[in-house]
Amino acid sequence: MSNEQHEPEGSAAPEDEVWTFPAWHNKIPPLVFGVIGPVATIAVIGLVWYYFSPQYTDVGYMPEQPVPYSHKLHAGDLGIDCRYCHTGVERSAVAGVPPTQTCMNCHTQIRANSPRLLPVRSSWASGDPVEWIRIHKTPDYAYFQHDAHIRAGVGCESCHGRIDQMVEVALAQPLSMSWCLDCHRQPEKHLRPRDKVTVMGYQADNQLQQGKELKEKYGVNPPVHCSGCHR
Ligand code: HEC
Ligand code: HEC
Ligand code: HEC
Ligand code: HEC
Ligand code: HEC
Repeated sequence: MSNEQHEPEGSAAPEDEVWTFPAWHNKIPPLVFGVIGPVATIAVIGLVWYYFSPQYTDVGYMPEQPVPYSHKLHAGDLGIDCRYCHTGVERSAVAGVPPTQTCMNCHTQIRANSPRLLPVRSSWASGDPVEWIRIHKTPDYAYFQHDAHIRAGVGCESCHGRIDQMVEVALAQPLSMSWCLDCHRQPEKHLRPRDKVTVMGYQADNQLQQGKELKEKYGVNPPVHCSGCHR
C-alpha cells in the first residue's frame, strides 16, 4: 500500500468506502430530510461521517506524516524501546507521542543538518509541536486505556502489529468492538510476561499454557459486559 492512496486526516475519503452502510441506514435520509430538518441533517451527516469514516477502522490506514520518521530504523534497527518515546503507556490511558525534545536528544548531534529533520528543527526553534497525524482512534463512546492492558501483559504487538518493521505506521488491527471482544473472551491467547510487552516478534513455547498461568498470576479479568467499555 503506498502513501499516495491515503489523504491526510480531515480530507474526504473515497465515496465508495464511506457509503457502505448496513441496510438500516437507508431509512435515515427520508426520515431526516423530510421530518427533522436541516440542522439535524447536518448533525446526523457529521456523526455518520465521523463514526463510519473508514480512516479509523480500515486496516492499512497510513496517513502521510510531517516528518519521514521511521519506526523500522529507530525501534527496529537501533532497538530503542517503545517506552523511551511513548512514555505514558504504562501509567496512563494514552501512550502519547514524544515531544520534540526527545528527538533532539539525539538529533542535535546526529544528522543535525539533514533536510528531512527540518520540521523537527523548526518545531524546536519555535516551541510549536510537530503536527503528527493520529492513526489509531476509538470513538469517544468506547473507553480504552493502555495502562490496564500493559499491566495485564498484553504486548504492543498484539494490537499494533510489527511496528519495528514499519517504515511508516499503518493500522494493523480494525479496533472494532468484535476485535476487542475476541481477546477479552480468550485473553490467554495473548498474555506474555510483563517485562516482554514491548518485545517485537515474541513467541512463547506454549502460549496457551503460559497464558492461563499468567491470567491466574496477574488476576486478569477483562470486561465483556457493555458497561465495561461504554461508560
Ligand atoms: C524514537 C521515538 C519512538 C520510538 C522508540 C517508538 N516510537 Fe512509536 N511513534 C513515534 C512518533 C514520533 C510517532 C508519530 C508519528 C508516526 O505515526 O510515525 C509514533 C507513532 C506510533 C504509533 C501510532 C500512533 C497513532 O497515531 O495512532 C504507534 C502504534 C506506535 N508509535 C507504537 C510504537 C511501538 C510499539 C514502539 C516500540 C516497538 C514504538 N512506537 C517506538 C516515536 C517513537
Ligand atoms: C536515540 C537516538 C535517536 C532518537 C531519540 C531519535 N533518533 Fe532519529 N535517528 C537516529 C539515528 C542513529 C539515525 C540514523 C542516522 C544515519 O542514518 O546515519 C536517525 C535518523 C533519523 C531520520 C532520517 C534522517 C536522514 O537524513 O535520513 C529522521 C527523519 C529521524 N531520525 C527522525 C527522528 C524523530 C522525528 C525523532 C523523535 C520522534 C527521532 N528521530 C529520535 C537516532 C535517534
Ligand atoms: C489492547 C490493545 C493495545 C495494546 C496492548 C497497546 N495499544 Fe496502543 N492503542 C490501542 C488503541 C485501541 C488505541 C486508540 C486509543 C484511543 O483512541 O484512545 C491505541 C493508540 C496508541 C497510540 C496513539 C494514541 C495514544 O494513546 O497516544 C500510541 C502512540 C500507541 N497506541 C502506542 C502503544 C505502545 C507503545 C504500546 C505497547 C507498550 C501499545 N500502544 C499497546 C490499542 C493497544
Ligand atoms: C489482545 C487482547 C486485548 C484486546 C485486543 C483488547 N483488550 Fe481490553 N483488556 C485485555 C485484558 C487482558 C484486560 C484485563 C485487564 C485486567 O484484568 O487487569 C483488558 C481490560 C480492559 C478494560 C478494563 C480495564 C479497567 O481498568 O477497567 C477495558 C475498559 C478494555 N479492556 C477495553 C478494551 C477496548 C475498548 C478494546 C478494543 C478497542 C480492547 N480492550 C481490546 C485484553 C485486550
Ligand atoms: C471490550 C470492549 C467493549 C464491550 C465489552 C462492548 N463494546 Fe460496544 N463498542 C466497543 C468499541 C471499541 C466500539 C467502536 C467500534 C468501531 O469504531 O467500529 C463499540 C461500538 C458499539 C456500538 C456502535 C455501533 C457499532 O457497531 O459500531 C454499539 C451500539 C455498541 N458498541 C453496543 C454495545 C453493547 C450493547 C454491548 C454489550 C452487549 C457492548 N457494546 C460491549 C467496545 C465494546
